[in-house]
This record gives sequence, structure tokens and C-alpha cells, in this order.
Amino acid sequence: MSDTPSGDLRLVQLSKSFETFTAVHPLDLTIPQNAFFALLGPSGCGKTTTLRMIAGLEDPTSGSIYIGDTDITETKAHKRNVNTVFQSYALFPHMKIIDNVAFGLKRRGDKNAMAKAQEALELVELGHTAKKKPNQLSGGMQQRVALARALVNRPDVLLLDEPLGALDLKLRRQMQLELKRIQSEVGITFIHVTHDQEEAMTMADTVAVMNAGRLEQVGEPAELYDRPASTFVANFLGQSNLLTSRITGDAGEGLSTADCHGFPILVATEHIPDGVRDVFVGVRPEKLRLDGPGRNQLTATVTDASFTGVATQYLVQLPWGFEVTVVQPNDGSPRASVGESVQISWDPGSEFILDARQDEDAGLLDTGLRHG
Ligand SMILES: Nc1ncnc2c1ncn2[C@@H]1O[C@H](COP(=O)(O)OP(=O)(O)OP(=O)(O)O)[C@@H](O)[C@H]1O
Ligand SMILES: [Mg+2]
Repeated sequence: MSDTPSGDLRLVQLSKSFETFTAVHPLDLTIPQNAFFALLGPSGCGKTTTLRMIAGLEDPTSGSIYIGDTDITETKAHKRNVNTVFQSYALFPHMKIIDNVAFGLKRRGDKNAMAKAQEALELVELGHTAKKKPNQLSGGMQQRVALARALVNRPDVLLLDEPLGALDLKLRRQMQLELKRIQSEVGITFIHVTHDQEEAMTMADTVAVMNAGRLEQVGEPAELYDRPASTFVANFLGQSNLLTSRITGDAGEGLSTADCHGFPILVATEHIPDGVRDVFVGVRPEKLRLDGPGRNQLTATVTDASFTGVATQYLVQLPWGFEVTVVQPNDGSPRASVGESVQISWDPGSEFILDARQDEDAGLLDTGLRHG
């Protein structure tokens, strides 16, 4: 929408402390222009505080914020070309939808306020509601009006703080797709804050995972999922089976041998963190197969099986008592029942490997899951 290219948003050593408590430790982050970027992390990790600093609603304790080459750290909130959409959309109840959207423009004396507001409403596919009042619209529609109200200002950067948090699951999924479409149409940088990992992965080109005021990892969704850099990311983004192992030697063909509780397995050498021998070999549940052809094989006993339609989720117990989750697609392969002895298998290379000198349960608190 904007004619002047705004450039990337850059946070440089940006931090925020409240008295003695540090909500955001110095962080460096570049968010490319026109990106759909997600900031993901559990409650209290500093997501909103980071957004509020970008918006100019919170003074950073240290560091700088740039849009392109312009330092906006000291720029007042209303002078920044940044808009925010919150979870509570707070439309003016007595005003028509179109007036809600045009409100800011009118106040600034924009002569085309009404036309721009109508255009913004069309963009969120609510052109026909212009003359209605907020209480005549559903929650999801009201949230789209709030979005139109932010977009009408043609910001360089749009901040979305849990904007779908108040919506029910079905509407949420619909709005996720809707938001993606709108972002690709307007070409404005979107920074979407959520603590829903599926939402972040579905929507964003790039996801930054935050934990306790620090960035754990930044990358494309598939990269974070397939190659998490810490147990926190491995556990927070989907389910992980972390097998405590020790790297024992080179097996050729880019593979290494590892000892997993006395059982030999193979891993991709390139996945081993430099200079580390005691590791967690991480295998996602859908990479494991029951009685499959994978080169790594371990004997196990089925302790639980739940049919979910597209797949069956198994809990299987390994000889040393550890339970792993296996998700087997409902593709006609034979099903196993509780108590049955099976082989679990996977191919070397489908794993990720993490230094074992970290908490294997990090990131599990929110889901209530625990490793055995
Ligand atoms: N004004 C404030 N004074 C003191 N502490 C604050 C203030 N604002 C935030 N905090 C603290 O900073 C931490 C980060 O808060 P923040 O709101 O950024 O978290 P969040 O990641 O947005 O969490 P949620 O997902 O629950 O919205 C929290 O521990 C919070 O209690
Ligand atoms: Mg928040």
C-alpha cells in the first residue's frame, strides 16, 4: 500500500527491564520487509513487551529499533508508521463500521477518509457491513474490522498481538487463512504474536521462538520443526521423542554410530553438534514406524493405542522403560494392539541431535507432557 519502501525492521540489542525483572534480554532480530513473521512463546516470555517496544508504547531499557536505515527508537508512538491489532478489538459501539475504520484518518483531516475506509473494508471482505453497528457483527467479523482499521493507515509494520485469541477454534483457523491472504495482498510486514505453535507454523514465513525473555531460535517453520536447536524448541513445537544416547564412532557414508541404552543406532554425522558426545537423539512421532523397514530398529511393547482417524497414535515402551510416541498414518498398514511386542524403526538422518547438557523437559510445562 505504501509508496515509499520502508525497509526491514531491525531490533539491535533491544532489552526491557521492569525494576529488577528483565522481561526482554538484549535481542537482535531482523524482520524482512513484507515478511509474515511470527513471535511464538509461552505466556510471560516477553512477546507483548517486545511488540510494545516496536510500537513505541514501551521505552526500551537498552538498544535500538530501525525501519530500514531510520532509527525510530526515540520516535513517538503516533509518529511511527506502525499499527497494532490487539486481542480485544475495542470498536466504538455507537459508530457505524465504516466510521470506526475511518476514525483515525478523519481525525487527521484526511479528505479521502471514507473512500479509504471502504477500500480497507473490501480488503477484509466486509464492504457490505459498512453501515452496520459493531454489535450486529460476529466476533470474527469485528476482528476483521479492527484489522481494516489498522490497515487503513497503510503502516510499514502491522503488529498483531494474539488477534485470534478470543475466537473459537473453527473461526480461528478460517481467520488464519484470511490473515495470510490479506498480508500477501497488502505487502505490509506483519508481526504476529501467538502462543499457539500450530498457528505460528501455519501462517508465518519465519518464526522466532522466545523463552523467558530470550530468542531460542529463528527460522522457517519446517526448519524449526525438523532441526530444533534446543530441547525447548523441540518440545514446544510439536511432540518430540528424545532418546538419551552417546556418539560412539564413524560408520561411513555420512553416518555415525551411537549407543542408545546399550542398543546400537545410526545417526547422520552432520546433525551432531560440534564436539558433543552425550546427546539426545530426537525423533518426531511421525518419523517412527511400527514394524517398518527403517535401518534403526528397537524392540518395544505397545502400551497405548488411540485411533484418531487419519492416524493412530501409539505409546510404546522401550526395553529400558522409556516411552515414545509413534504416529502411524491410517494407510492400510496393520495396526498393533496394547501389550503387543513390536519393532519401532526409523531411518538415520530423520533425527535431530541435541547436546544432552540441557533440560530434556524444557518447553513441556505448557502442554503438561513429561518425558518418562
Ligand atoms: N509493566 C510491567 N511491570 C512489571 N512487569 C511487567 C510489566 N509488563 C510485563 N511485565 C512482566 O514481563 C514479563 C513478560 O510479559 P509479556 O506481557 O511481554 O509476556 P507475553 O509473552 O506477552 O505473555 P502472554 O502470552 O501471557 O501475553 C512477564 O513476566 C510480565 O509479568
Ligand atoms: Mg502478551
